[in-house]
Amino acid sequence: MKITVVGGGSTYTPELVEGFARRAGVLPVDELVLYDISPERLRVVGGLAGRILARHGFPGRLTTTVELGPALDGADAVLIQLRVGGQAARLVDETLPNEFGLIGQETTGPGGFAKALRTVPLVLDIAEEVRRRARPGAWIVDFTNPVGIVTRALLDAGHRAVGLCNVAIKFQRDLAVRLGVSPDRVRLGHAGLNHLSWIRSVTADGVERLPELLAGDTLTELAEQVRVPAGLLQDLGAIPSYYLHYFYCTDHELSGQLSGPHRAEQVLAIERELLALYEDPALDRKPELLESRGGAYYSEAAAALVTSLLTGDGAHHYVDVRNNGVVAGLPDEAVVEVPAHVDTGGPHPVPVPPLPPEMLGLVQAVTAYETLTIEAALTGDRSVARRALVANPLVRQWESAAPLLDALLEANRAYLPRF
Ligand code: G6P
Ligand code: MN
Repeated sequence: MKITVVGGGSTYTPELVEGFARRAGVLPVDELVLYDISPERLRVVGGLAGRILARHGFPGRLTTTVELGPALDGADAVLIQLRVGGQAARLVDETLPNEFGLIGQETTGPGGFAKALRTVPLVLDIAEEVRRRARPGAWIVDFTNPVGIVTRALLDAGHRAVGLCNVAIKFQRDLAVRLGVSPDRVRLGHAGLNHLSWIRSVTADGVERLPELLAGDTLTELAEQVRVPAGLLQDLGAIPSYYLHYFYCTDHELSGQLSGPHRAEQVLAIERELLALYEDPALDRKPELLESRGGAYYSEAAAALVTSLLTGDGAHHYVDVRNNGVVAGLPDEAVVEVPAHVDTGGPHPVPVPPLPPEMLGLVQAVTAYETLTIEAALTGDRSVARRALVANPLVRQWESAAPLLDALLEANRAYLPRF
């Protein structure tokens, strides 16, 4: 089998490679290709990836290349993990909205909107190349943010795609520790959209354990972890993902953003340090520092998902898929994040109990925003782009949306040929 990583020069790649190396017994990969636009990144990250694979006795071949076509030729699965404009563009996403009194974040709110405009056309171009060069029926696994929007754009264009995020698997690990069981025994009733999800059930060996997690010290700890008040978790009877903090605690978040450090700058510093470590020819495993990135367990999730898609093991995953009635009250075409069993036919979502009104209302609003954002990204239509921003609960007001759009387009000009 051939697996290609688009954005293979990412600092996350060593972890991903380790995930495939560990699965070599169940997923026979003959060739792992790291494709990137940066030869320097490929040299450094590819070097470490090679040493990691060698340590595991990985039987396949590792290739690095700056040529997309050959990277995709005959691939069975293509993982897309790129970031248009790098951390510099992310810093704009995180700071520019603040000038309009709005939340700045890379995947949600106006920052996520700008990221979607930069990303959707490029990922679709890559996907067309996948269609031409990869094995017929090859899978695209997208972790490129904003995952919900990018996955929906891929599916709308007729690609065989699944979106993936590590929020659910991170909770699964964390809650398993709290419950004193191994993660594979824990199942989450995780539902919503990407970066807009709630955990409404936590079972261990099929027994519901959420009520005890939403009480006492654990409640306090979980509330701190997701950065929303404990009373809200109790009212919801659910654990919201930490991205809901931007919606439930907007004012608090905004004041923090105005004074606080920016994640893009922190990540830039972490990445510099990581790349320096990766250069060390004696290093043959992922350094601990990689754990300080938000994408923890992402490699686990990704390697396991590719294994299910290519071997049909039917394993349980949390994925971004076409709604098709899974979440009642949302359009079929929406992309939702839900648990699913995955085989070579793709994800088969587990039924989701109807969302209560406050959750459904929010996912409906954000789905409307996502729908318009994809249309804006594909057409370059400024009016549609403004409608997308006013549909976003974190923007809403036209008087902010209009100048904000102009500012976002200007700051991202180099990456937005359609506008
Ligand atoms: C979480 C999200 C990812 C996101 C990451 C950011 O893991 O699920 O979608 O990319 O956080 O982490 P970073 O270290 O870049 O801030
Ligand atoms: Mn994510």
